[in-house]
Amino acid sequence: MHTLQQMKQDGQRITVLTAYDATFARLLDQTGIDILLVGDSLGMVVQGLPNTLPVTLEEVIYHCRAVARGSSHAHLVGDMPFLSYQASLDQAVFNCGRVLKEGGAEAVKLEGGVNVAERIAALTAVDIPVMGHVGLTPQSVHRMGGHKVQGKKRGHAPGERERLLEDAAAVEEAGAFALVLEGIPLDLAAEITERVSIPTIGIGAGAHCDGQVLVLHDLLGLFDKFAPKFSKRYVNLKDIVGGAVREYVAEVQSGAFPTDAHSFHSPKVVPPLAVQQRPVRSAG
Ligand code: KIV
Repeated sequence: MHTLQQMKQDGQRITVLTAYDATFARLLDQTGIDILLVGDSLGMVVQGLPNTLPVTLEEVIYHCRAVARGSSHAHLVGDMPFLSYQASLDQAVFNCGRVLKEGGAEAVKLEGGVNVAERIAALTAVDIPVMGHVGLTPQSVHRMGGHKVQGKKRGHAPGERERLLEDAAAVEEAGAFALVLEGIPLDLAAEITERVSIPTIGIGAGAHCDGQVLVLHDLLGLFDKFAPKFSKRYVNLKDIVGGAVREYVAEVQSGAFPTDAHSFHSPKVVPPLAVQQRPVRSAG
């Protein structure tokens, strides 16, 4: 926490990626990434769901455990799924506590602003560090009418933009240690980043945030259902994986794989010593 705050003050950008399993967690951890987020995006990129709403607390805990096993350097944040913290303060404390206690996470992330400020305050009061998340909050997909950029409209009474400024301020005041800004115009993200003292982590929020987060599968080009405008595909693993698997299928079908080098051999059958040395008895 202290380091992240220091990074904001020093103008050092914070790097965040999602992770869902131990193998990738180990690879990412070795790069020196600052934060691994076990996002509820796992519903879409791991489970093939149309949105994040069905993801359960047990699933988040399961994936957190795997990521915790694979990482030792990065700060580990578990994303609280829909309906695991909204019902009551007690529910929020109990379930967020489980993500730390059973999942091995070091912090949790909650979606929402003014509406979850009380939750954030209750969690920080019992030493559960919280990362906020405002703007395009995927758990509110039905209220937003889709995964749409938020905060474009300025209003009198207060408009979307003003509401998001209030949300960011409420999250900071409640004690969150960092704030994800998702799907908002870059000038609004810059204004929030300037106004709050905690680090902002952007996704689809432009370059002025204190750090950036991407969904791992987007960065690696593994998720091809849609390509969000804000995401950057650094490699096309979908084609690389497809090519490797096609080659494997062809080699199995042609008999080119496995070769002798991929096979185990039984030891040569040598008769036991006693049998070899047994004297030949005479017939009489
Ligand atoms: O679930 C997730 O992966 C997230 C990030 C995109 C911030 O919430």
